[in-house]
Amino acid sequence: MKFFVDTADVAAIKELNDLGMVDGVTTNPSLILKSGRDILEVTREICDMVSGPVSAEVVATEAKDMITEGLKLAKIASNIAIKVPLTWDGLTACKAFASEGHMVNVTLCFSAAQAILAAKAGASFISPFIGRLDDINLDGMQLIEDIRTIYDNYDFKTEVLAASIRSVNHVTDCARVGADVITAPPAVIKSMANHVLTDKGLDQFLKDWAKTGQKIV
Ligand code: G3P
Repeated sequence: MKFFVDTADVAAIKELNDLGMVDGVTTNPSLILKSGRDILEVTREICDMVSGPVSAEVVATEAKDMITEGLKLAKIASNIAIKVPLTWDGLTACKAFASEGHMVNVTLCFSAAQAILAAKAGASFISPFIGRLDDINLDGMQLIEDIRTIYDNYDFKTEVLAASIRSVNHVTDCARVGADVITAPPAVIKSMANHVLTDKGLDQFLKDWAKTGQKIV
């Protein structure tokens, strides 16, 4: 399973990247806003650091303008995945980008039907949003499972990039149902290391060690 980091926070990406935890990065307009940085500048900085795909999202809503924006974003670095929304115009732009050999991440996917269209349009990645479906009492993980099954049925090459991940359980459930990639905020990835029994066990070991009076170095 590949780990993408869902942030435009360069320091947070660096920390995880130095540990070998980063296979790619995803950004979106909200994350660019949160970073307070210029999109071209921060995306270039991320691409210099991370060798895997870095998703940069277009904001135009008509295919023609999406293509203009996407081609500008693609010029930043060879590892840019142009991110387009799952609209008819987004699919049109996806097809145009894919035909020219660009990686495309089709985002804001909330149904298996949408995911089929993205695969047909040549998307490199489909981004189904788990958390936002859960927010409205639908089953985000079921969507990941459904897309996995459908893509496998027809040998679609589009990778399932599970997005809108809010918890460690989302990550492990994605691994269980076979998502190719998860993209998660740095805090979620770091909290995968936490377990109350690890803390409790370590506490006991340290107490017992102190009683031995020994030192290793
Ligand atoms: O990759 C998409 C992701 O950033 C959306 O997450 O938590 O805003 O639904 P969220």
